[in-house]
Amino acid sequence: MMKKDRANFGSKMGVILASAGSAVGLGNIWRFPYETGNHGGAAFILIYLGCIILLGLPIMIAEFLIGRHSRANTAGAFQILAPGTHWRWIGRMGVLAGLLILSYYSVVAGWTLEYITEAVSNSFAGKSPNDFVVSFQSFSTNPWRPILWLTVFLLATHFIIVKGVEKGIEKSSKIMMPMLFILLLILVACSVTLPGAKRGIEFLLKPDFNKVDSSVFLGAMGQAFFSLSLGMGCLCTYASYFSKDTNLTKTAFSVGIIDTIIAILAGFIIFPAAFSVGIQPDAGPSLIFITLPNVFQQAFSGIPALAYLFSVLFYVLLAVAALTSTISLHEVVTAYLHEEFHFTRGKAARIVTGSCIFFGIFCSLSLGVAKGYTLFGLGLFDLFDFVTAKIMLPIGGLFISVFTGWYLDKKIVWEEVSNSGSLRMPAYKLFIFILKFIAPIAISFIFINELGLLR
Ligand code: PHE
Repeated sequence: MMKKDRANFGSKMGVILASAGSAVGLGNIWRFPYETGNHGGAAFILIYLGCIILLGLPIMIAEFLIGRHSRANTAGAFQILAPGTHWRWIGRMGVLAGLLILSYYSVVAGWTLEYITEAVSNSFAGKSPNDFVVSFQSFSTNPWRPILWLTVFLLATHFIIVKGVEKGIEKSSKIMMPMLFILLLILVACSVTLPGAKRGIEFLLKPDFNKVDSSVFLGAMGQAFFSLSLGMGCLCTYASYFSKDTNLTKTAFSVGIIDTIIAILAGFIIFPAAFSVGIQPDAGPSLIFITLPNVFQQAFSGIPALAYLFSVLFYVLLAVAALTSTISLHEVVTAYLHEEFHFTRGKAARIVTGSCIFFGIFCSLSLGVAKGYTLFGLGLFDLFDFVTAKIMLPIGGLFISVFTGWYLDKKIVWEEVSNSGSLRMPAYKLFIFILKFIAPIAISFIFINELGLLR
């Protein structure tokens, strides 16, 4: 194991910000609203919140303790804690999930760059809601531009990864995260005051349980894992850079709360705006790219300078939020290749970046010229999204909870969560109970339910 050059996060705040930086990203602002829209609104959100509390937080603490105790990449971590067993396959599956997510995630991250250039060149001005739909479609189905941007985005991620974890991630998170938060608050205020916004607010707040079927549960669980960066060893890899006195439980709660608030704020921006201009809430992955430019245009129609400023700022911050997430995804795979195969960090990073550009190109094309090529009825982009968020991450989470609840020596678990007895842990028994029984049963139940075996 090459431990000498393992980086460390410089401060407590850095730890929280870097983990929150991984969690907060396109998952909150792009994926959460469109999944909410696809699954009928408020009821989905309630189930999502249940998944965050019951599954997300305990499994996040479990990932943290596995990572910090072993001080290794995610596959190495299981090797160290359970030598000679098959548990390392959980880590390996996580690495594969990281690679697949990074490939399609970068496509959408690339879209944010296109929108930055559009915002900067003021090309949103004077467009009607329908124009935004048409221009998004012509951009995302164009074979070249999205590929160019996805490559640029992956190269930027690559650059930060080879520069080292601490400086790049900590510094950018510290300034950008609070800025993003403030801008989102302003945009919520704008969006809910648009004419006809009320129906969007109702969509978010009035649950209609008639619409709840098995796919709503699977969708909410998948979204919870995806949004918290859970189930694939990402936070486990970050925790390997935590110091001995990081309070794992507190960090998990902070990350969970920040991530959830940002997703809910995004919902309160997108849906009032979508209903206001008559865009269907289930418009899918294009939802934020067609509704948001409208918010800027309509809410600030009298003050074009503000419309300009906020749209530029928004897409820049969205790109940065995506970047702190792509960095964390990249780091999982790079740390794995570097430590397990003894490649230099540079070479490991080049392999990851190259593979993701390769797969990313096909994901991007699957939304346009290669739309006709499907597997199980899904194009490559949708397939990667489905397989990772709805299958691999929850399965990873299931095994992480079983591993920590049943297999791992409880002395290690206690030592890590209580920082060798120096922290009070009033809910420790509940934590273990959730990992042993509730999380594995709930995740299995949702899978079995989706397969239709309960009907
Ligand atoms: N949580 C990130 C987001 O919400 C995406 C992500 C998933 C990052 C899995 C790392 C691991 O955008």
